[in-house]
Amino acid sequence: MNFHVLTLFPEMVEDALGTSITGRAMAKGIIRLHTVNIRSFSLRGDGRIDDYPYGGGAGMVMQAEPVMRAFESLEAKLPSQCRVICLTPQGRVFDQKMAEELAGEGDLVFLCGHYEGIDERVLDEIVTDHVSIGDYVLTGGELPALVMMDAISRMVPGVLSNQESGQTESFQGGLLEYPQYSRPEDWRGKKVPPVLLSGHHANVDRWRREQSILRTLRNRPELLERAVFDKKDRKYLRGLISGQAEEEITLDQITFLSKLLANMEKS
Ligand code: ADE
Repeated sequence: MNFHVLTLFPEMVEDALGTSITGRAMAKGIIRLHTVNIRSFSLRGDGRIDDYPYGGGAGMVMQAEPVMRAFESLEAKLPSQCRVICLTPQGRVFDQKMAEELAGEGDLVFLCGHYEGIDERVLDEIVTDHVSIGDYVLTGGELPALVMMDAISRMVPGVLSNQESGQTESFQGGLLEYPQYSRPEDWRGKKVPPVLLSGHHANVDRWRREQSILRTLRNRPELLERAVFDKKDRKYLRGLISGQAEEEITLDQITFLSKLLANMEKS
């Protein structure tokens, strides 16, 4: 995977991606990072690449020409049809599915904006995807580009070791991950759930599945609407509703689950 990043802060991107698992993948050559400093393409002697917005208003706008020239400087290295991603809070919200889809590309270009935005005309010219990493506003596109590159890299074959990729992970099967415990068995009086010490693999798997459902219900109930439940899962859900399960849930959660089960039985 070749990542190309158009940015005003190349060292920020290089330092972060060069660290930890993505750094290891770069050292192995599975991932390559190529940054382009937009400031090098300033049209002015002072290195500035921003100007006042037409129509007035607060803040400055990144000018079209330096951004276009920065892009053109790497065009020869890109395949035709390469996706060019502009990081912006106005974009489509990034998720695991998008990470998996983008990991199938050979090259990706990230355009990191700063100030109040980038002149729309150059965006129209070069950008294929506008992507946001969530409903909040950051000072620039570098952190969002890094978030995306990290999540995409994990999906590129060879980046994670077998042990790392073998883990059952959050969002696999549409549920959040179950809680994990390591030594000691008793930490400051808090015990590891006994089933995990039982050596009974089927019971461990069942417990983990139920904890995933419970955690998803508590933290991200909307994800349950798209999850697939088998007979045992539905029995657990009924147990939660009736109060027979070990775990307690709130009245709102009971109402939510009752509707969910009723819809499942309808379809
Ligand atoms: N730039 C500023 N905020 C952003 C966000 N939430 N996502 C993507 N790019 C951004």
